[in-house]
Amino acid sequence: MSTESTTIRWEQDDTGIVTLVLDDPNQSANTMNQAFKESIAAIAERAEAEKDSIRGVIYTSAKKTFFAGGDLKDMMKAGPEDAQQAFETGVAIKNSLRRIETLGKPVVAAINGAALGGGYEIALASHHRVALDAPGSKIGLPEVTLGLLPAGGGVTRTVRLMGIADALLKVLLQGTQYSPRRALENGLVHEVAATREEMLDKARAFIDANPVSQQPWDKPGYRIPGGTPSNPKFAANLPAFPANLRKQLGGAPYPAPRNILAAAVEGSQVDFETALTIEARYFTELVTGQTAKNMIQAFFFDLQAVNSGANRPGGIEPRQVRRVAVLGAGMMGAGIAYSCARAGIDVVLKDVSPEAAAKGKGYSEELCAKAVARGRTTQDKADALLARITPTAEAADLAGCDAVIEAVFEDPALKHKVFQEIEHIVEPDALLCSNTSTLPISALAEGVEREPDFIGLHFFSPVDKMPLVEIIKGERTGDEALARAFDLVRQINKTPIVVNDSRGFFTSRVIGHFINEGVAMVGEGIEPASVEQAAAQAGYPAKVLSLMDELTLTLPRKIRNETRRAVEEAGGTWTPHPAEAVIDRMVDEFGRTGRSGGAGFYEYGEDGKRGRLWPGLREHFTKPGHEIPFEDMQERMLFSEALDTVRLLEEGVLTSVADANIGSIFGIGFPGWTGGVLQYINGYDGGLPGFTARARELAERYGERFTPPALLVEKAEKGERFTDAR
Ligand code: NAI
Repeated sequence: MSTESTTIRWEQDDTGIVTLVLDDPNQSANTMNQAFKESIAAIAERAEAEKDSIRGVIYTSAKKTFFAGGDLKDMMKAGPEDAQQAFETGVAIKNSLRRIETLGKPVVAAINGAALGGGYEIALASHHRVALDAPGSKIGLPEVTLGLLPAGGGVTRTVRLMGIADALLKVLLQGTQYSPRRALENGLVHEVAATREEMLDKARAFIDANPVSQQPWDKPGYRIPGGTPSNPKFAANLPAFPANLRKQLGGAPYPAPRNILAAAVEGSQVDFETALTIEARYFTELVTGQTAKNMIQAFFFDLQAVNSGANRPGGIEPRQVRRVAVLGAGMMGAGIAYSCARAGIDVVLKDVSPEAAAKGKGYSEELCAKAVARGRTTQDKADALLARITPTAEAADLAGCDAVIEAVFEDPALKHKVFQEIEHIVEPDALLCSNTSTLPISALAEGVEREPDFIGLHFFSPVDKMPLVEIIKGERTGDEALARAFDLVRQINKTPIVVNDSRGFFTSRVIGHFINEGVAMVGEGIEPASVEQAAAQAGYPAKVLSLMDELTLTLPRKIRNETRRAVEEAGGTWTPHPAEAVIDRMVDEFGRTGRSGGAGFYEYGEDGKRGRLWPGLREHFTKPGHEIPFEDMQERMLFSEALDTVRLLEEGVLTSVADANIGSIFGIGFPGWTGGVLQYINGYDGGLPGFTARARELAERYGERFTPPALLVEKAEKGERFTDAR
């Protein structure tokens, strides 16, 4: 190899084994960039020329990860005009890997670290895969989670390796990331090694034992395991795939799963080379479209910015919490205790009686038992987790706690009281957090002596599953407390977004607009089932009226009344939302308060199971024949949330675009295909000017609440987008 730009080192030992060391000198991780394309082409050429002196080939890497995959920065830039180039680059890389794969010599992937996407595709182009069982190492093809498909041969080879059904369900459609051991169990790799030496020994042993080697699919008489659509028995089952996929996506506009399905099925009916071309065409369509850009922005760049602390005050030493006091062992407290204990933190879980506290710990016992039964953890680990949780009713047991998370009833007087009770018992500099979902943090802080140490830590239910925590900075919260709260959220492996104090913060306020818009449409006389359908097809994980029932109809009434009082006390005027009248009638006239009350927009069985939409809705609200365009229904929900997010930026409640995008997807179910609530505006047809024009149209048709805020208009005029200046 002579090229300067090489990203692959050729190391040949005296027995004729060539180790191809993936080691891009210009990046911390190896990616499928232009330099790689050139390097792998040169390697393929040399391997063919020197074939007679080569006994076998091992791919491995000099980096911590084996190989990171495609270059996402490049992909963000790919427009329709770049389609041909994206296509050609993909084809060139694949051709080089294919030339090495079909050399006739044994090719082994020695997977020394994470091999996701492109990394696993290099491994798939090898005859044998040995993975180092390194902690945190992951293997799989997660492209679908970024709106893409694996186009380095990933679809074509997994289909041929494990059959269409397994390839789709285990690898391609969910984008599951497997630990090396689970990758072995699921047939993604052949062997696992405990050390790097063992991994390389195993690679060499394969080469020794297989002087001539071919992929199964290159051997004569090969058939795809489980059959292909040309087999009538298989074909009979095939319609189930698109149907299941539709069910899984709820009709939401995610193009990647559909393209993956098409590439897998079409590719299975043709020869290997043609299948690679089909895969590349479906990829090109995705990479040049808007959805992939949205998803890469959110799930890669924004998530990385948020988790790496772009919003954490600098210059403050990171700190780990050792012992946390959780006040209130109800639904939220129990979940918070579990999440902390799982991360290795000692938890003192306090409630009003030993029984109530023990019941809170019982929740962790249930989760642990389930995890052991499903093989997700060992009994020893579960026992250790549970041993870290001490239930109590005694304040004295909180001695030594360096952080407090309060989750008692949503009552400011009670919250003040419980903090007073414990403030002098915990460590003198303990971080003081409240998990309030609605109460202003600055007012709650008045109940403690050390206001700078007081902060909001808003978890989402169910805590063990929901990845987001909204950190709320009160007026007098100090930077030190903010940094410590940030570190605590990361310590328990959750994603922190940071907002300034305001009624409803970011998440509760914005989700309220989504719900109100859905309810308002019912009030206008639109068929309720159509409203639900519109939410599902827009990509919301929960339908709007069913979500309203879950939260209860009385909660927004209470919040609305408090907000109205606050607005009026401050001398403002309250503009009622059209949803209010519907909710009032539902509660006052029909006594339907939501799921917990046994009746809401839906009917509920004795066991609390949701039944059909309440027929009374049609009788009392629906105007038969009254319809608005389906697109308007979807966009009223999406726009109501996006527009209020812009207002929150204007008001300084939100200070980061990445936090808004991540918070909206992970906290309140804003559809993932949009890339989050502000990326939705960036990616809207026509960009910010297009979005602004459409908002004006909605304002004219449906009410002034859709009037674009000044910040949006200004940015649209300047030709700007919503991005963080970092
Ligand atoms: P919950 O009613 O399930 O639990 C509250 C617990 O606090 C009860 O076990 C109660 O016995 C205990 N408690 C009352 N007084 C106490 C005292 N003096 N000392 C210790 N414990 C005491 O309520 P939930 O749903 O867990 O909510 C707790 C807090 O979390 C509230 O502020 C709520 O607004 C907030 N929150 C709730 C969310 C939800 O989805 N339910 C989401 C995010 C925040």
